[in-house]
Amino acid sequence: MGNSVKSKKIGILTAGGDCPGLNAAIRGVGKTAIVQYGMQVLGFNAGFLGLINADYIELKEAQLSGILTLGGTILGTSREKPYKLVSEDGSDKHKPEKIIENYHKLGLDAVVCIGGNGTMKTAHLLSQEGLNIIGIPKTIDNDVWGTDVTFGFDSAVQIATDAIDRLHTTANSHQRVMIIEIMGHNAGWLALYSGIAGGGDVILIPELPYSLDTVIKKIEKRYEDKKPYSIVVVAEGIEHPKNQSAATYIAKSIEAATGIETRETVLGYIQRGGSPSPMDRILATRYGAFAAECIAEGNFGTMVAIKKNKLTTVPLEEVGGKLRLVKPDLGLILKARKMGVSFGDEE
Ligand code: F6P
Repeated sequence: MGNSVKSKKIGILTAGGDCPGLNAAIRGVGKTAIVQYGMQVLGFNAGFLGLINADYIELKEAQLSGILTLGGTILGTSREKPYKLVSEDGSDKHKPEKIIENYHKLGLDAVVCIGGNGTMKTAHLLSQEGLNIIGIPKTIDNDVWGTDVTFGFDSAVQIATDAIDRLHTTANSHQRVMIIEIMGHNAGWLALYSGIAGGGDVILIPELPYSLDTVIKKIEKRYEDKKPYSIVVVAEGIEHPKNQSAATYIAKSIEAATGIETRETVLGYIQRGGSPSPMDRILATRYGAFAAECIAEGNFGTMVAIKKNKLTTVPLEEVGGKLRLVKPDLGLILKARKMGVSFGDEE
């Protein structure tokens, strides 16, 4: 541990939609930075807004204690994208300049940006401006390119699976078809995993185009086979008319075609709330501690990642603007098909 490393001053921010495990990651970065490397740690409020407005607090070790199990983020978050021009008068264009100015004014040596795909894109652009940036991938959607898994996902799978379990008993009692809508605009990881874990009969995800006919036939076949209730798990991003939710559209279509009583549930933000699962606490802690090590080693312009359960880094320029989607030939999908689960795309 050299003196030059000891004197480093770093920033941390959380950006984009929140998820369980953000505080565990902040704690992982901060404690490692302070305890192992003697760095000074600033926490920026509300994502990139904190960097634009120099709105921050100093995080001492004491502030990092007791937050491991807390949901949300102690730093707050926002969907602020400093490179996206939205104002008519052009005042937006000074945001990146402000960030660069504040970075130097505050004497920062690095900033850790915890977020999803959008955050990694911004992180890359800032690193191209010459700032030392490290990304940490989070999201319940599990769709950050370059890593096998993001924290937040495991907790959300637990919450969604618990909801599906509860729907089973009420579906059974009333002999109904139950539709549950799970988050995921582009990626169906959460619907797929919770659908499989919850024993869904039909699982519809954005990556696999479905036909309503196939879904209806599956429900009718179950009915004929004396399985009068069915669970249909749908990702919010599947093809559906935009004036209603995916769940409402599928529920109405099934009931109209089959005459079987059908009900829908949109799980919504419950999926993103509350305390992180033990696996997410561990993953976020590993990512956080590793990000601090990367700073100490000067490994910048990178996102920390997990590949085959090993920590590694990937260049931010490879990550920005891409999504990690479910592949149709994923082993889990092939296995589920063999067990009779319908993805709405095959007879
Ligand atoms: O965090 C990802 C995500 O949960 C998506 O699955 C969801 O569609 C989106 O965020 C909605 O978040 P918000 O309403 O905060 O933009």
